[in-house]
Parts: sequence; C-alpha cells; structure tokens
Amino acid sequence: MSKMIDLRSDTVTLPTDEMREAIANAELGDDVFQEDPTVNKLEAEASKIMGKEAGLLVPSGTMGNLVSVLVHCERGTEIIVGDKSHTFYYEAGGISAFGGIHSRQLTNQLDGTIKLSDIKSAIRVDNIHFPRTSAITLENTHNLCNGSPLGPKYLGEVAKIAHDNEMQLHIDGARIFNAAVAQGLDVKDLITDADSVTFCLSKGLSAPVGSIICGNEEFIYNARRIRKALGGGMRQAGIIAAAGIVSLEKMIDHIREDHNNTQILVEGISKIEGLVVDKKNIKSNILYFDIEKGRERSLELVIQTANKDLYPFDIILDDIHFLETSPNRFRLVTHYGIKHEGVERTLMVLERMID
Ligand SMILES: Cc1ncc(COP(=O)(O)O)c(C=O)c1O
Repeated sequence: MSKMIDLRSDTVTLPTDEMREAIANAELGDDVFQEDPTVNKLEAEASKIMGKEAGLLVPSGTMGNLVSVLVHCERGTEIIVGDKSHTFYYEAGGISAFGGIHSRQLTNQLDGTIKLSDIKSAIRVDNIHFPRTSAITLENTHNLCNGSPLGPKYLGEVAKIAHDNEMQLHIDGARIFNAAVAQGLDVKDLITDADSVTFCLSKGLSAPVGSIICGNEEFIYNARRIRKALGGGMRQAGIIAAAGIVSLEKMIDHIREDHNNTQILVEGISKIEGLVVDKKNIKSNILYFDIEKGRERSLELVIQTANKDLYPFDIILDDIHFLETSPNRFRLVTHYGIKHEGVERTLMVLERMID
C-alpha cells in the first residue's frame, strides 16, 4: 500500500533524521534542577528569537496556555477569550478546572480577530458583583478561523487596551511562525507588546514533543512553579529539547513551502465543481472547504461517512486522510510530511467527493 497522505493536522509530523540524531547525542541533566544543558540552550535560543527575557519548555501547547493563564490570572478573575479559540474549545476547560478562572467568550471574526469595541465593552468595571478582568488571550494563527494570521497593528491595539486596564495579554502562538511567514515579518514583531506567548515545536516545526512559553524573568519564574504543580517538570528533557533546537534552527524556513502547497490546494479546490473554498482568507497552512449547498456527496463519500456524526471525524479516500470538522465542512493542513506530489494527488482524489 502506498504511504498515506495525512492532511488531518500538522501535529502528525514525524521528527526528521537530523532530529533523531540530535536526540541520540543530546547532552542531558536534571531539568527540574535546571541542569539540562540542552533544555537550557533551547530555552535561551527560543527567548532570543521571540525577543523576550526568558523561556520555559513545557510538554504541550495546552499546558503552555494553561501555565501562562494561571500565572496571569488570579482565581475568580475573568479572562477574555475568542469563542472559536483553542483555549476555549479544545483545552478541556483547564483554565476553569485548575485555575478557577472565569472565561468571557467574545465573537471571533472570520480573520481570527475579536473586535476592539467588543473587547473594550467586555472589560468589567469595578463593582463587587463582577469578577475582575485580568487578561485576554489571542490566537495567532487562528486555527478555527482558516489559520488566519493576526498582524502587529491589531496586536498592538489589543495590548494597549489590555495594559491601559491593568490586564495581561497572552498569545496562543501554537503556529506563530506560520503567522510570521505568512506576513513576511520577524516573529518578534508579533509579540512585542504581549506579556507572554506559547508556541509549539511539535506542529509545523516537526519536533515530536514540546512547546515553549516566553515572557519576562518574573513571569517565567512563576511559570516554572506552576509547571511543576501541573506535573510538567521533566527530568532529562534534553531528549525533547534536542529536537526542538533543530526545529528552531532548520525548520522555520520550510514553512513557506507548506504555505505554497496550501495555495495550490486552494486554487485546485476552487476549480472542483461542487466544492467551495474561501480563496481570499486562506493565508497559512490550514484550509477549510465546504460542499456547496444543494450538491450531493458522492456514493463513495456517503459510504465512508455513514453513521458518523461526532465531529470532527476522519475521512480516508484511498491514500488521502483528512477531517470533516462539521457537516459538509472539511479541513486540510499542510506540513513537512506533505510534498508537491501529495498535493497533486489530493486534488485528484477530492474530485471524487461530489456526485
Ligand atoms: C491554536 C492551538 N493552540 C494550542 C494547541 C495545543 O497544542 P497541543 O496539542 O500541543 O496541546 C493547538 C493544537 O492543535 C492549537 O491548534
């Protein structure tokens, strides 16, 4: 059988040969004692790239967001989140379960932004009936909003509102390098005004495990204690960090190719009768497309999806693997494991989705 072309997510990327070699040869120590030289190197490189004072390796993006929010928000305070944000949707309610933090969900526009006027009017006035608004979190790129990148002007405006109101701004930058590449910017420009950022090594950057949080020294000092409390203090974590260093040094440039592949898919899908894709708003490595209203799915697709109604679920057509995320809406994500031939093949197979 030919190898599957797995477009479900960029989290499916496997470590490169160079990463495997770096893992095998990594210098190690006890990272809870802050004595793992490879982790220390990764955290130093990451914070330099992000233009922040310090960095902290955590096992996942979910833990990175949780730790950051727990540092910024006292129990019983409120955080502003997008109603389509990963933190609100897909992080198992961790901020309220473990932090007692109340979430205020504001509408995410199609481009992943939250209207400034919505943010301003959601900030609580000082009144004993209300929780205090302690922070806001933005997602860049925005997964559920077509992988949209947020720009520096908007981010600066949100930061100003936050800081004028004694609130902190956290960026869920799981794919912050995709946001930078999509806009031709240095990644620093996207977090200059933010108080913290989480980014993932294990998505477009292909490392097997790990995310990094960056912020000032005091923030990272507090984050380290919370990471420990959550059980995220890892010992010889240089095993993970070694691959992360390869991610930072070698994999960022590759993201451009993923974005080019996405554009080829967008162009191709827009020519398939019965499929609809929002050409204008797809700018990174995530694309959603729909079956046009009134069109029937092919018998092959009907058989494949019969009795499936718990979204998202997997679609496998021959060697192409992707997701149906809601009725008649599908997601493709490009990454290091997807080559040009895979893109061409995907377009051929997608033609078979419609009767
Ligand atoms: C925008 C965003 N934030 C956070 C995460 C969480 O990352 P992890 O799967 O490493 O917990 C994801 C995962 O897909 C994501 O898409």
